[in-house]
Amino acid sequence: MYYPEDLIEEIRIQNNIVDVVSEHVQLKKKGSSYFGLCPFHNEKTPSFSVSEEKQMYYCFGCGACGNVYTFVMEYENYTFLEAVKYLADRAHITLPTPELSEAVKRKIEYKQQLMEVNREAARYFYYQLYSERGNKALTYLDNRGITETLRKKFGLGYSNVYRNDLYQYLTKQNYSKQVIFDAGLTNKDKKQENTYHDRFWNRVMFPILDVHSHVIGFGGRVLGDGNPKYLNSPETKLFEKSRNLYALNIARTSRKSNILMVEGYMDVIALHQAGFNNAVASLGTALTGGHAKLLKRYTDEVIIAYDSDEAGINATLRAIPILEAEQLSVRVLHLGEYKDPDEFIQNNEPKAFEKLLETAEPSFIYQIQRLETNYRLKDPVHKTRFVNEIAKLLLRIESDIERDNFMETIIEKYSINQSSMKKLIADIGKNTGIISQKKNNQPKTKKKPSEDGLFLAQKTLLTLITDKKNLYTVIKDHLKPEEFTDDLCQRAASYIYNSYEQGQKIVPATLINHFTELAEQTKMASIFNHKVAYKHPLQLEKIVNESIKKIKLSNIEALSRSIEKTIELQKLILAKRELEHLHISLNDG
Ligand code: UTP
Ligand code: MN
Repeated sequence: MYYPEDLIEEIRIQNNIVDVVSEHVQLKKKGSSYFGLCPFHNEKTPSFSVSEEKQMYYCFGCGACGNVYTFVMEYENYTFLEAVKYLADRAHITLPTPELSEAVKRKIEYKQQLMEVNREAARYFYYQLYSERGNKALTYLDNRGITETLRKKFGLGYSNVYRNDLYQYLTKQNYSKQVIFDAGLTNKDKKQENTYHDRFWNRVMFPILDVHSHVIGFGGRVLGDGNPKYLNSPETKLFEKSRNLYALNIARTSRKSNILMVEGYMDVIALHQAGFNNAVASLGTALTGGHAKLLKRYTDEVIIAYDSDEAGINATLRAIPILEAEQLSVRVLHLGEYKDPDEFIQNNEPKAFEKLLETAEPSFIYQIQRLETNYRLKDPVHKTRFVNEIAKLLLRIESDIERDNFMETIIEKYSINQSSMKKLIADIGKNTGIISQKKNNQPKTKKKPSEDGLFLAQKTLLTLITDKKNLYTVIKDHLKPEEFTDDLCQRAASYIYNSYEQGQKIVPATLINHFTELAEQTKMASIFNHKVAYKHPLQLEKIVNESIKKIKLSNIEALSRSIEKTIELQKLILAKRELEHLHISLNDG
C-alpha cells in the first residue's frame, strides 16, 4: 500500500457515497436508502441502492456492490490508486508525495515538461486550424465528413507550412530547445549545428492522448496524397507506442461491453462520430502484448475491425493470439466490400454498423476460415493437414464446453468424422502435455459445488454477527476467525471480532478499503450485502448451527488430508463426532 490506512479511511469519510454516486446517477430517497438506475447494467426500473448509513451501494439487479472506492473504480475504470487520487482531489485532501531519490524526481519532472510542451503544441495546432492559413485543412476535414463537435472532441489541428513555425512559438514560451526536440516535435538540421526544424508541417494534426488525457504525441496526415501519408511522433520517454492506444481515454468510459480495435485515426473518429465511442487504434504499430494488457484493464472482449485488405487480414491473425494470451475473448468483423470502418460509416447508417457488429465472428471460426484458403480440401493430403491444424486450434480453447461446441460446428461444416477428431485432439494434447495438465486440474473443479455452500455459510455468519452483537457473543465461543476457510471471510471475521472486542462500531465500508483489487472489494462487499432470510427464531438457530458445522467440518476434512499418523487421525474422527452433537442454543441471545 502506498498511503497510510488512516489516510485512505479519511478520504473515504470525506467523500459521502451518496454525493459521489449522485454525480453520475440520479438518486431518489426511499426509506433509509437512495435508489436509481444501475450504471453497471441496463435497466428501466431502479434497482440500484445506496445506503448513506452504511456508505455502500448495492444493485439488486446485477449484484454490483461496494464502497465509494469500489464505485469509482468500477465507474471510471480506475485502479485503486487512481481512485484514491481522484477522491482525495475531490475532497481537497493533499496526498503526501512519497520520498523519492533525486534521480527519480528529475525523471518525473522531465516527463512533466515533455507533457507540457506537447500540450502547448496541441494548442498551437488547434489555433492554427481556425486561422486563415488553416482553411485548407478545415476544408479537408469537412470533405471527410468530420463535424466540428468531433474536431473539438479529438482536438484536431493543423501544422503550418513554415519550417520552424512551432519551434519559434515554443521557444518564445520559454521551452528549451532540448525539451522541444526530446518531445519529438523537431528534427535537427543535418548541416547546421544547433538548428532545428519542425517535424510536422502542412499536415492535419491528431493529438495522441494517454488514458489520463495527457498529450503524449501526434499523428499528422498530409492534405491529400503524399508520402508518408501519416507522420507520427517518434517513441519518446512519454510516448511508448506499445503501451498506448488512440482514443482509449474515451473508449474506457464508454458503457459498452467490448472495445473495437481498428487500424487508423480516421476509423476511430468516424466510429466515434457514429456513436461507437468504444473504438481505439494502435498507433501506426502492430498490436503488442502491452496493448493487450492495457485493453484487459478495461474490457473482456475485443472486436477487431481492421482493414479488409491482405495486410489487415494478416494483422488480425497476428493480433488474435496476443489478445487471447491476456484472456480477452476476440471477435472479428467482416467489412464486406468496404476497405475500412471509416469507409463503411461514410456509406451507411450507424444502424447498419450496429447490425454488422452482431455478425462479428468468434476468433476461432475466423481463423479456420482463413486457414481453409491455404488448402485444397478435395485433396485428401491437404484435408488431413487442414484437420490437424483445426485440432491444434481447438486445443487452445480452454473451456471444455466451448471446445465441444466449436468442434461440433466444425466437423459438420467440413464433414470430419467426430471420433477421429476427438482422437486427434487427444493425441496432440498428450504430445504437448496439455491434456495431462487438464486432468490434474479436474479434482478441483469437481469440488466446486460444495465449496460454494461453504462460502455461503461463512457469508451468512458474517452478515449475522455484523447485524446482531448478541449473536456474536454466542458464536465467538464456538468459531474463531482463523477457522473461516475463505481468505476474505477470514479477514472480515478478524476485523469484526476485533472491532467488537475493542468496543468499536463495525463499518463494512472501512474494511473494503483494505483491498486494492476490484474483485476482492466486490467480494467483500457482497459478504456484507448478503440477506439471511428466516421467519422464526428457531429457523435462525438452525441456520447458525448448520453454517458453523459446515465450516468446522471443512476444517477437519482439510486437516485429515494432510495427517499421516493414525493417532492424529483418530483425534480428528473424535472431533468429527463431537461436531455432530454440537448444538448452539440461541434462546438466551
Ligand atoms: P491507413 O493507410 O489505412 O490509413 O493506415 P487510414 O486510417 O485509412 O487513413 P485515411 O483514411 O487514408 O486518412 C492506418 C494507420 O496506420 C498508420 C496510421 O496510424 C494510420 O491511421 N500509418 C499509416 C502510419 O503511421 N503511417 C503511414 O504512412 C500510413
Ligand atoms: Mn485505412
